[in-house]
Amino acid sequence: MKIGIDRVGFATTSLFLDLKDLAVARGVDPNKYLIGIGQSEQAVIPPTQDIVTLATQAAAKFPKAELAQVSTLIVATESGIDNSKASAVYVKHLLGLDDFVRTVELKEACYSATAGLQFAKGLIVLNPNERILVIGSDIARYGLETGGEVTQGGGAVAMMVTANPRVMVFGDTNVAMTKDIMDFWRPLYRTEALVDGKFSTQVYIDFFQACWQRYRQLTGRTLADFEGFLFHLPFTKMGRKALASELGDREDEVASRYWNILAASQIYSRRVGNLYTGSLYLGLLSALNNGQLEAGNQLGLFSYGSGAEGEFYTGTLVAGFENFIDHPDKFLDQRRQVSVAEYEQLFNQQLGMKSEDITFDVSNDPAEFVLAGQTDHKRVYQRK
Ligand code: HMG
Repeated sequence: MKIGIDRVGFATTSLFLDLKDLAVARGVDPNKYLIGIGQSEQAVIPPTQDIVTLATQAAAKFPKAELAQVSTLIVATESGIDNSKASAVYVKHLLGLDDFVRTVELKEACYSATAGLQFAKGLIVLNPNERILVIGSDIARYGLETGGEVTQGGGAVAMMVTANPRVMVFGDTNVAMTKDIMDFWRPLYRTEALVDGKFSTQVYIDFFQACWQRYRQLTGRTLADFEGFLFHLPFTKMGRKALASELGDREDEVASRYWNILAASQIYSRRVGNLYTGSLYLGLLSALNNGQLEAGNQLGLFSYGSGAEGEFYTGTLVAGFENFIDHPDKFLDQRRQVSVAEYEQLFNQQLGMKSEDITFDVSNDPAEFVLAGQTDHKRVYQRK
């Protein structure tokens, strides 16, 4: 049975920061951010957006008739809003899904949306009529004036997983790997991540190499069998570092194909920043929209979550995939640019761990789904 991704939707906020402005404010050469890190813009998160509103926005792009058939909803996130109740329950309500649906939240840093896709595959093997909505939704927060600040971002990618999918069919062989490593983590009492930045980039590359080499051993396949690889993109330079670890200074036709696919996959991440769970899949969306990809092309996907877990797997594109994916360029072009001062103010206004009753002014947020505040320790969501 063919199982895979049947639709892809993406949402981020309506605000962005130009990283040249951030570089000037932080006394850094702008080329460090633009070239050294590989980021140009960053999504700015107003207090009226959180992982629930972003996840809902991404999935609400799917036809209502298809949402009505969802049997399981998985929200993958490391920006949870509650230690008990799954964000998926709120998303289910806001999307108006049927009550006879299974909902759950998954966590393992940036990796867990990939786990969600694999669990969805298993459910479909058991029952081919299952229609599973997997959403990776996160807000990447490191803190003002930290080394990680330039790699913040936020947004959600929603994927419908079905039998006979219309975007990408999953391959048969996956290699997943886990080791207890402290490269990036966020204790329960913190709203910002702690990170051993340079170490984390090395662990990422080591995991990519270990998973890919094992995949090669298991399948006998080589780089020549794929059109290109897609990577988790915490910042776009990370994908370049990972690919360079494999290609070195190779300059043949295969290498140039891989660099072209990587460049196409980086376009949206460069403008939005790290989506954590959604980043690999924003890269997939970017490559599908901007790469010269065709039906039958095979892609390798490397998912990485700090802590640490990696997985390498593959997919084959389906004819007509372009009709079932989001095209976010116009939305990204129409976002409002904010100053560094406004970004810092909005950063501090996010609800985070505040426990008091609070009301947010939702009139400035053009999004359909908004967080209007908190009453009696309960988040209040609105559909505008
Ligand atoms: P830093 O200290 O700013 O790095 O931290 P740097 O000083 O080494 O500079 C970065 C690059 O800019 C270097 O290039 C410099 O040479 C270059 P590289 O050696 O890396 O190729 N550079 C310049 N280039 C052009 N013109 C200039 C210039 N100046 C310097 N003038 C770091 C960077 C990414 C470590 C930091 O931002 C950080 O800690 N970010 C967060 C951690 C992270 O994203 N890690 C990625 C791997 S872990 C992962 O992906 C998981 C994650 O998504 C979380 C999860 O799983 O939940 C993070």
